[in-house]
Amino acid sequence: MKALILVGGFGTRLRPLTLSVPKPLVDFGNKPMILHQIEALKEVGVTEVVLAINYQPEVMLNFLKDFESKLGIKITCSQETEPLGTAGPLALARDKLVDGSGDPFFVLNSDVISEYPFAELIQFHRAHGGEATIMVTKVDEPSKYGVVVMEEGTGKVERFVEKPKAFVGNKINAGIYLLNPSVLDRIELKPTSIEKEVFPRIAADSGLFAMVLPGFWMDIGQPRDYITGLRLYLDSLRKKAPGKLASGAHVLGNVLVHETAVIGEGCLIGPDVAVGPGCVVEAGVRLSRCTVMRGARVKQHACVSSSIIGWHSTVGKWARVENMTILGEDVHVCDEIYSNGGVVLPHKEIKSSILKPEIVM
Ligand code: GDD
Ligand code: MG
Repeated sequence: MKALILVGGFGTRLRPLTLSVPKPLVDFGNKPMILHQIEALKEVGVTEVVLAINYQPEVMLNFLKDFESKLGIKITCSQETEPLGTAGPLALARDKLVDGSGDPFFVLNSDVISEYPFAELIQFHRAHGGEATIMVTKVDEPSKYGVVVMEEGTGKVERFVEKPKAFVGNKINAGIYLLNPSVLDRIELKPTSIEKEVFPRIAADSGLFAMVLPGFWMDIGQPRDYITGLRLYLDSLRKKAPGKLASGAHVLGNVLVHETAVIGEGCLIGPDVAVGPGCVVEAGVRLSRCTVMRGARVKQHACVSSSIIGWHSTVGKWARVENMTILGEDVHVCDEIYSNGGVVLPHKEIKSSILKPEIVM
């Protein structure tokens, strides 16, 4: 089986992290987001993943080259010269997706995190015999997603409304699809939205089915949702693979610490924290609801909460970093500084406190 991941877009909502790498390479739970997806695809027998991309393909491919051999999966790029939306890229990659076997193929939005229940998705798709299956999940605020109205019992989709202005329902498109090759006959090679133009038509022909996704789900394309997503992801690890989580007197709740990270004496870490490869957390540090990315250093007695510390950044001694502070790559927060929601672009030094949420260029 094959899969296509919709990688395009500039990831503006996840700046300043996406100023350093394309969104799918931003670390989540100590590894790039896209690796969570590729590993789960590999588990259900996917042999080739096509990255539909319109920006920095070299960065992605260079990074993923190593994983091709490590995971034993083929990773290729299909590059657009103009953004083709969420359906056009499928037409562009048509020859890569169709191999004559008649097998359906996966399509994923690159910024969604879940337990990726792909085996259940395949089973459901084969059982209903329709053209396309989308996974859906319930959310409190459906208006920022694609809303699906489906027949209880069969899962047949009656309506698909992208970003509805009025309330239609609370089951939304999770950005995880399994499509028969025939769906490609419905898509022209031009900028097209799968949500606005393709799904409503398949639904009108009674060929679109929806399956309620078991387990957690989050679109982590925005900082606040990224931090919520980490909590849900760690909760799920607690249930499925508790051995991967840290334990000890210095740990509170669910915490993931990379084996190459160093944690000093007298720290208190958690809940809902990820400390990435090569990080150094010095003595007496307090971390909660945050991500500390590869190579970062948090110095003695600093306190970080509800924030993201980008790659190779440092947080100075006695500094306090909180309330959705996002440090880009290689940012240095000096000793004793306070940051309340500062969003700091890469390679900056912060010498004075940031008292209210603002972008620091
Ligand atoms: N290759 C390519 N080209 N990819 C694109 C393009 C493009 O022109 N435009 C967007 N994408 C990719 C994005 O990178 C992302 O992985 C995916 O398509 C969806 O785009 P988003 O910009 O993240 O859309 P959204 O979050 O507002 O809404 C989508 O996701 C929701 C779930 O998170 C829709 O699919 C909604 O229906 C859905 O509920
Ligand atoms: Mg999104």
